[in-house]
Amino acid sequence: MNHSDLQAIADQYRRDGFAIVRGFATEAEVATLKARARALATALDVPAHARFATGPDHTARDHYFLESASTIRGFYEPAAFDAQGQLRVPKERAINKIGHALHRDDEACRRWTLQPRVGRLARALGLERPAVVQSQFIFKPPHVGGRVDWHMDSTFLYTDPPTCTGLWLALDEATTDNGCLLAIPGSHRQPVPKRYVRDAADQLHFIALSENEPHWNEDQAVALCAQPGDLVLLHGQLVHASAPNASDRGRLAWVLHLIDLQARWAADNWMAQPPLMALPDA
Ligand code: FE2
Repeated sequence: MNHSDLQAIADQYRRDGFAIVRGFATEAEVATLKARARALATALDVPAHARFATGPDHTARDHYFLESASTIRGFYEPAAFDAQGQLRVPKERAINKIGHALHRDDEACRRWTLQPRVGRLARALGLERPAVVQSQFIFKPPHVGGRVDWHMDSTFLYTDPPTCTGLWLALDEATTDNGCLLAIPGSHRQPVPKRYVRDAADQLHFIALSENEPHWNEDQAVALCAQPGDLVLLHGQLVHASAPNASDRGRLAWVLHLIDLQARWAADNWMAQPPLMALPDA
């Protein structure tokens, strides 16, 4: 990407709260990251209680979840289990996500993340001292991949002022059939209405930040369809979601969340001590 391409992407990001960099990752990079995701899904020992969902299905956030902040852990889709609590699909097609320290602790993930063009892109989006705070492979597997409710990422990764920025790399094609991202253009111009915090007893809950109810109109949602290698940039205050995957095709993504080290990290974020990794200067 040359300088004017980067400026055009940053302008769209500031206007809409999102932008898509087509072909940011090469075919070889996509293949490497996909292979790592598959290998981890096979190799990781994931206990049956480790399940992840949002909204009404919101699953228990236990110690296993809290500890995933600083290591590599897998989580299942709740819909992958039958009424007796047995997996009804192969384990590799039951995983919701693997996170959250891949960028630090997995060599292939770390190498991709530390490429100078990732840091250069983050700086173009306005982060003066960009650092990765968490990383995930999000699988959205066929048939059992669940919906993700409307939310802002800054609710979960709060800094003062808010600087959370998502980099969402498609490793499979993402379409409206297999649960691509959905976003409300311009919704990032409202303040963060609530935060997800961890209290002194390690309990997780939401606290309201603003008297103003968040407002958006779902009718204005746009689908962020992406080809493998496309990078979707998500402002931390962008209201976004995704639908369940009712198709036969997986929808794997490699997702980094960044913050600006110039801002103050909130010590009561659910990731109390995140695996922070500064992105090098280009
Ligand atoms: Fe999100």
